[in-house]
Amino acid sequence: MLPSKLPQQVKVVEVGPRDGLQNEATPVSANDKIYLIEKLAEAGVSYIESGSFVSPKWVPQMATSTEVFEKLNRNNNVTYAALTPNMKGFEAALAVNADEVAIFGAASQSFSQKNINCSIEESLERFAPIMQAAKKANIKVRGYVSCVLGCPYEGDIDPEQVALVAEKLFAMGCYEISLGDTIGVGTPASVTKVIQAVSARVPTDKLAVHFHDTYGQALTNIYAALQLGVTVVDSAIAGLGGCPYAKGASGNVATEDVVYMLNGLGITTGIDFQKLLQAGWFISKKLGKTPLSKVSNAYLAQQQT
Ligand code: HMG
Ligand code: MG
Repeated sequence: MLPSKLPQQVKVVEVGPRDGLQNEATPVSANDKIYLIEKLAEAGVSYIESGSFVSPKWVPQMATSTEVFEKLNRNNNVTYAALTPNMKGFEAALAVNADEVAIFGAASQSFSQKNINCSIEESLERFAPIMQAAKKANIKVRGYVSCVLGCPYEGDIDPEQVALVAEKLFAMGCYEISLGDTIGVGTPASVTKVIQAVSARVPTDKLAVHFHDTYGQALTNIYAALQLGVTVVDSAIAGLGGCPYAKGASGNVATEDVVYMLNGLGITTGIDFQKLLQAGWFISKKLGKTPLSKVSNAYLAQQQT
């Protein structure tokens, strides 16, 4: 018998085309990004973070985001979202009709400085006009908090500090707060602590988990989060990428691994698993590497025998 607290349905937020590709050394053309996004949509992924409007000097891999959004064949059932750190980014996202945007803050001052060149407080000030403009344009805004389980510069992070930042983003109008284990150091124990702390200030059904798999704990940590009532999970196809401003941080948990686990638990995602595998194999081939997903590699090996 499965634990009764597990949800029946989970929304998978695919961040591979953004979080994944932002940190890959091999350049990927706009056309290949578009092909990947379209394949993910065909597989039934309903939310795809398709790019970011950040400084191309900081993250050159995302410099083609305008072209990607402009040329994309959109599926009406899919939300195509973009990361926007400031008004310049928001205006660029608006110009190409991004369906939603995401602002990204951090629970650690040092990471905030390294990632977006300002303190946590300054970042919230920069986000305020985005929230106003998004409301006016009728665009939903997702909020990220990075380093919720540890910081590459500061080490341990107090769950209460995470809760304070999450509460502020929620109070500003973000409809969902994605809790990022940017460097993948968490375990089910620390995940439980942080979700309990944040849930005291932001309703659990407004939380998402965004786990990088650096220490191989991401699936276990997602399972812990599901048991606490979280029903939105961020993941990246083929386990791509990582954050350029978190040294040593590897990719997000692979979407294939997450969907395999959810399927096994009888939790609905609306995703066609075989088509998902194909999307992962496509982008891995383009990058000249094998997927970081164990599940994907197991199926690939079966195909080759
Ligand atoms: P800054 O240098 O403080 O900004 O950077 P500025 O306002 O002083 O402008 C400096 C230059 O950047 C100017 O150009 C601006 O026009 C340009 P110049 O006059 O020198 O030629 N600029 C921009 N260009 C394009 N788009 C923009 C933009 N804004 C300014 N939106 C800034 C501040 C935030 C822009 C910079 O620090 C930046 O782009 N950082 C990149 C951050 C990033 O993308 N990080 C990775 C994503 S976050 C992540 O991965 C974590 C997450 O996955 C969750 C998790 O895992 O924890 C979300
Ligand atoms: Mg991330």
